[in-house]
Amino acid sequence: MSVTILGIESSCDDTSAAVIRDGLLLSNVIASQSVHEEYGGVVPELASRAHQQNIVPVVDAALRRAGITAADLDAIAFTRGPGLLGSLLVGTSFAKGMSLGLRIPLVDVNHLHGHVLSHFVKKQPDDVTPAYPFLCLLISGGNSQIILVRDYNDMEILGRTIDDAAGEAFDKCAKVMGLPYPGGPHIDRLAAEGDPKRFRFAKPHIPGLDYSFSGLKTSFLYTLRDARKTDPDFVEKNKADLAASLQATIIDILLHKLSKAVEQTGVRTVAIGGGVSANSGVRAAVADFCERRGLTAFIPERAFTTDNAAMVAIAGYYKYLDKDFCPYSATPYARVSI
Ligand code: KG4
Repeated sequence: MSVTILGIESSCDDTSAAVIRDGLLLSNVIASQSVHEEYGGVVPELASRAHQQNIVPVVDAALRRAGITAADLDAIAFTRGPGLLGSLLVGTSFAKGMSLGLRIPLVDVNHLHGHVLSHFVKKQPDDVTPAYPFLCLLISGGNSQIILVRDYNDMEILGRTIDDAAGEAFDKCAKVMGLPYPGGPHIDRLAAEGDPKRFRFAKPHIPGLDYSFSGLKTSFLYTLRDARKTDPDFVEKNKADLAASLQATIIDILLHKLSKAVEQTGVRTVAIGGGVSANSGVRAAVADFCERRGLTAFIPERAFTTDNAAMVAIAGYYKYLDKDFCPYSATPYARVSI
């Protein structure tokens, strides 16, 4: 018997709904919120309001594009956290209402599990998915973690950032350069034309597998501040080289600990996920890193790197198979670990 799951994601500023049948993606609809652009960051109250406006049409579109009706669903999966509480409440309440109305199970999903499990979303039945165990480098606006994934419900964080996340390093440095929010994709674009060896920025010396990006941010800031004293147009003239050097430093920091994790665990499969895994330099560097060491690399399609409901639906699908359902008394959580 086939299993059809509706996934709902509303943890930050993207409202998304997706339908998955037996692991195969039937639809994945994402409504991004442009309302935050003028503020240089996500405004939580505006995000929740936009989710309220978007959620009905987005779910409707996901069902239509999947060619099904609500009556064909077996369960509703939703992101319970971590994320912005107001935003999560919209998805949680909607999922509960739909599950109650249709009398089908409700399944809660940890957003971070979703990012890791996005590699199991199949677009074609013969798509290859990672074999357990594998290491996942989860790099986004809020997280930078190396996760040992033993099974869909058995994950261990081996290392995490002790201050800023990799995405924050991109975004905060981009802001100092005067680039729009979020700056990550702008750095990516500029870096393609710059010299990655032109500038040197501080790299952390943190023991173990933990990350730190705040020293890099400070050294980037000081480089720009000092250079602007003698040349006010310094950033404008050197933006491609600055972007390329910043990106190369972030990649170096990421790969240094990833390499240690591979050595320590002996795990031979490496996956990446989260918004920063959309970065062209990161993708190429991880692919190259794996090729040199004979490791199998899983680099997600760009559509599955940022927040999306397909990853929520696939995580929900595995929990559904285990009959791991969620009570209606469940409330969203802003913070949680793996
Ligand atoms: O996973 P995600 O959508 O959500 C949050 O955790 O917030 O990640 C968003 C982050 C932002 O910091 C954004 O700048 C970064 O991912 N990002 C990128 C690229 N695309 C998105 N960073 C570098 N290069 C990119 N191409």
